[in-house]
Parts: sequence; C-alpha cells; structure tokens
Amino acid sequence: MDRMVGLAHKFLGEVLSFGDRAVDLTAGGGRDALFLAGRTGSAGRVYAFDIQQDALRRTEALLREHGLICCYLGCGEIPRGNGVFLVNDGHQRVGSYVREPVQAVIANLGYLPQGDKRLATCSETTLQALQDALPLLSAGGRLAVIAYVGHPGGRQEADRITDFFGGLPPARWKTMQTRMLNREQAPLLLMAEKL
Ligand SMILES: C[S@@+](CC[C@H](N)C(=O)[O-])C[C@H]1O[C@@H](n2cnc3c(N)ncnc32)[C@H](O)[C@@H]1O
Repeated sequence: MDRMVGLAHKFLGEVLSFGDRAVDLTAGGGRDALFLAGRTGSAGRVYAFDIQQDALRRTEALLREHGLICCYLGCGEIPRGNGVFLVNDGHQRVGSYVREPVQAVIANLGYLPQGDKRLATCSETTLQALQDALPLLSAGGRLAVIAYVGHPGGRQEADRITDFFGGLPPARWKTMQTRMLNREQAPLLLMAEKL
C-alpha cells in the first residue's frame, strides 16, 4: 500500500507503448527513467531532467547497466535518434528541451537519496514545470507526481501541487490523489489524465 512509485508506474504504464515519448522531470537515481525507457523501447524517447550532475551520472550508469542507450541533450539541441536524453537543467525549463508531444510525465519530488538534501525540489519550480509539461501531453496522456512531506518545504510543495491538480479544468482533465490516511508522513501520489 505504501509503494507510491509502483502505483505511479502502473498508472503511466497503462498508456505507454513502444515508440512513445515520455518525460522524467526528476531523474535522481534513474529508476523512473529506467521504467519509462523500458516501456518506450528502442523506438521511443525519454527526456530525463536533473539539476545535479551526480544524479544524471547515477541515471546513466543504471541505464547502461540495463543495456539502454542514453546521451546528454543541450538547450536548443534537437534530439537525434531515440533512447534516453539526459538534461542537466531545471525541470522548470522543460519547454526549452521537449518540443514534441509526449504520452507520460513523471515527477518524483524531494531530494536525491544519499545526496545533498538541500537540493530538493521546491514549489515554485515544480509548479512551473508541471504547468509547462501539461501542454506537451497528448490526448490520453498521463502525469504522475509523487510528493514527500517529511523534509523542509515538502508539505508546502505537496499542498500547492494538490491545489494545482484540483484546479485543472474538469472538461479537459481527470485528476486524482492517493495517500495512506493513517501515516502522518506518507507521500502523496497525484495523477492526471488529459481527455
Ligand atoms: C527523489 S529524487 C528523484 C528520484 C528518481 N526519479 C528515481 O527514480 O530515482 C529528486 C531529484 O530531483 C532533483 N531536482 C531538484 N530540483 C530540481 C529541478 N528544479 N529540476 C530538475 N531536478 C530537480 C534532485 O536533484 C533529485 O535528484
């Protein structure tokens, strides 16, 4: 019940197929990017963002361990071929890198495990990233956000994202939130589907 990442993958996996495009807004240790790349396959493209070079190195190592192709994408650069494109930039600049429709977007918020906790995601940039990621989703495309509340700023970020999902126009979006009710520090999973 407490595996929000697994639920998020299940939710996104239902609409992801071979050859699709997807975005990981927080590459971190690379598990989400690995999941997306596994679904979209050799004909697909995954864009994985992180502000920390260390996170992207971990992601690259994990992907290579699984025999997946990845390369770095610079701002304004047009991605060539398929595979995973690592972006060493803030996800609030997603619109400067992703210029094609995508089927799935994931954002696993917070800080890099075993990394610098001060480099956690924050409400302002997260909201900007989500706002800019929504128009990239194709019809039927899905967005999943996992928000943690146990670190400084985490609860405020989770509240603001909850408001953001709650405010999406019902004629164009279906949104949903899930979390354990009897655990004060339980993470939240927020999901949206474009109609
Ligand atoms: C919980 S980790 C992500 C976990 C990861 N998706 C995985 O599968 O292992 C959160 C990551 O968000 C990154 N981050 C923080 N602020 C960011 C921003 N503005 N843009 C992109 N990444 C950011 C951190 O550097 C950290 O690596």
